[in-house]
Amino acid sequence: MTTQPSLSSFQVSENVSHMKASSTLAAMQAAEAMRAAGVDVVDLGPGEPDFDTPQNIKDAASEAMRAGKTKYTPAAGTRELQQAIIGFYHREFHANYERSEVAATSGGKQAIFNAVVSLINPNDEVLIPKPYWVSFPEIVAFASGKSIFIETEENDFVLTADMVRRAITPRTKLIILNSPGNPSGRVIPPAEFLQIMEIVAERDLYAISDECYLRFVYPPATVFSAASLRPELRRHLCIAGSFSKTYAMTGWRVGYSLANSEWTRAMLKVQSHSTSNVTSISQAAAAEAFNGPQDSVAMMLAEYTRRREWLLQALNEIPGLRCPQPEGAFYAFPEVRGCLKGKLKTSGDFVNELLENEKTVVTDGAGFGAEGFMRISYATSLDRLEEGVKRIRRVAERA
Ligand SMILES: Cc1ncc(COP(=O)(O)O)c(C=O)c1O
Repeated sequence: MTTQPSLSSFQVSENVSHMKASSTLAAMQAAEAMRAAGVDVVDLGPGEPDFDTPQNIKDAASEAMRAGKTKYTPAAGTRELQQAIIGFYHREFHANYERSEVAATSGGKQAIFNAVVSLINPNDEVLIPKPYWVSFPEIVAFASGKSIFIETEENDFVLTADMVRRAITPRTKLIILNSPGNPSGRVIPPAEFLQIMEIVAERDLYAISDECYLRFVYPPATVFSAASLRPELRRHLCIAGSFSKTYAMTGWRVGYSLANSEWTRAMLKVQSHSTSNVTSISQAAAAEAFNGPQDSVAMMLAEYTRRREWLLQALNEIPGLRCPQPEGAFYAFPEVRGCLKGKLKTSGDFVNELLENEKTVVTDGAGFGAEGFMRISYATSLDRLEEGVKRIRRVAERA
């Protein structure tokens, strides 16, 4: 009999040992475990659309397989996908990008990872407005950078140019912007975004604009991409885009970066030594997503709009809960401090109470750097939302 070496002495690298497990993933696992035990769970945790990928996109993938497009592609993506991305930004935002400035990535997440890792040196400061998407600080830590968080609660979680100006130090190198934002759903007004980018350019810094929820914006707010900014500002910018949410393609793993060609070359070095190219079949699907009919996006947006209207009103009717109007994405981010009494002392306690006694999953704001809040996803049917809100109300009233 061969003896297996013991794993107890396995030493995780310093870079990885500092990484936190994702709080959104923890919520997903809790819901999974309860569903497996046959419990009637209301899951308001998911960060992914509840719609199926549109048929024309699936057909493009099938066709790619039939046509034998099943081999390696350039790390930056197929010419077809690069042109589709360039075409989309030209059509929608009058932006002119060259192929040397475009890279297809395995989800928007990889675009952010590539951008941070190829720019940040040890102890460089990276500005991250709160609340933030959970992966931002972890990616910065992996690159040995230092996250400097910007508090935005005073302005109901909308970042301003003044806040950015105050946070800059001689060590600042990068700011990560995310509008519409996860988890708050808040949108930085375009005029404010412009001022932020003017500061970034003036101080010779860089910005990543995570535009993963680009198209999910509700009137009177309007769709805005940093791609529409002046070329001299865009030189300081990397856009991280994604097909995941807009086209309900989370499992296909396709995103992209748009950045100056030097930054793009550096990012492709990182990618070519790790994941190489995005799956060739997913690339064909993504090209169809941008080139093909867009009515499925309009349909999803109309449904999110209906749910959002209902949900915001229902949440604001719960005594103690306060929910600022999110202008984008598919999340509400209410403050629960007014419901904390007795044994419920933190938003984490509130969220656990919901989970344990009402079998309802939401995500604690603390994981996004905003203790006292919780994230509710409305990427789920109106029926389930109604049931979930009933359960939230019960906990709020019991507290
Ligand atoms: C703010 C934000 N950025 C980026 C991503 C990454 O998405 P993907 O890698 O699926 O494109 C997500 C996913 O939840 C997100 O919420």
